[in-house]
Amino acid sequence: MIEKGKTYVVMGLLNTDSIAYATGKMIEEMGGKVIYTSQNERLKKIFFDRGCEDLSQEEKDAMDIRYCDVTIENEVRNLFKDIGEIAGVVHSIAFANPKTCLGDKVYTNSFDDIKQGFHISCVSLATVAEFAQEHMPRGGSIVTLSFASQLAFPYYNWMGVNKAALEALVRALAREYGREHVRVNAVSAGPLTTKAAKSIPHFAHLARTWKKISPLPWDTINDKKEVANAVVFMLGQYSKKITGQTIYVDGGASSMGGELLPQERPLKTMPIKKKKLAKARLERMRALQRSHEQ
Ligand SMILES: NC(=O)c1ccc[n+]([C@@H]2O[C@H](COP(=O)([O-])OP(=O)(O)OC[C@H]3O[C@@H](n4cnc5c(N)ncnc54)[C@H](O)[C@@H]3O)[C@@H](O)[C@H]2O)c1
Repeated sequence: MIEKGKTYVVMGLLNTDSIAYATGKMIEEMGGKVIYTSQNERLKKIFFDRGCEDLSQEEKDAMDIRYCDVTIENEVRNLFKDIGEIAGVVHSIAFANPKTCLGDKVYTNSFDDIKQGFHISCVSLATVAEFAQEHMPRGGSIVTLSFASQLAFPYYNWMGVNKAALEALVRALAREYGREHVRVNAVSAGPLTTKAAKSIPHFAHLARTWKKISPLPWDTINDKKEVANAVVFMLGQYSKKITGQTIYVDGGASSMGGELLPQERPLKTMPIKKKKLAKARLERMRALQRSHEQ
């Protein structure tokens, strides 16, 4: 999994609900060193002021948080300049103006908003990869976060377009950086309750949709951990020959043709095959009895 003692840059920390935070935590639990990035000094301050109330002072003090606006090339260059050797980067960043790029109508003439959303949510991965790969002399892994780009969901409009472009960019970068042994992949997650998700109009509708299409139970809060697990897998040693891919961690929703029938919906608790267990126990007892009789 994660290489113990190696450094990973995790970009896109807003608060402890962020996928970036869940991923960074997991890397640290596995013995990796994490450098987080927040968008700017102001958001870094907000993280400490009110974005991490659930952390102890000791935990806060242990966090290495730098800032980097991914649309400013110099900030990305400076972030990686003195960072030394790194083993991986997580790009957990997206934005599109919810007033113009998300909502009832796809069409908008707010072209600057469309360009801004594309720059932050897609193009920035290429900027990050360019400056990060120089610091991976032994190869490494870059992972970005996507969302169901093969389907059109209501209200997701230009962000859906950005995610489709992001996944195409993942393939292009995987092709370019493969010779340096640097892998580039995306993890496509089901809906999770974070600040970015809350700015998607009618996010609750999306969460309800998942209940109807996901063959595995999907929990928009707790399954962030499962997404982080997959990101860590894609960063580490066990995915060494995977590049250019989008891996779905969405409860299986992306593979289903239409809503689940009532009898197909996931059970609320883990099914216990009572009859099968009782039969197995009876057989074991009979076998024991036979061995005593012999
Ligand atoms: N939450 C979900 O349901 C979900 C599902 C699938 C994929 N994703 C993706 O996961 C990623 C992380 O989102 P999240 O849900 O953790 O929300 P989040 O709001 O916690 O994280 C988004 C981050 O992007 C950062 N960001 C925006 N513009 C930036 C810029 N110019 N420079 C640097 N950083 C910038 C924000 O500051 C924030 O830290 C995004 O790419 C998102 O699209 C989220």
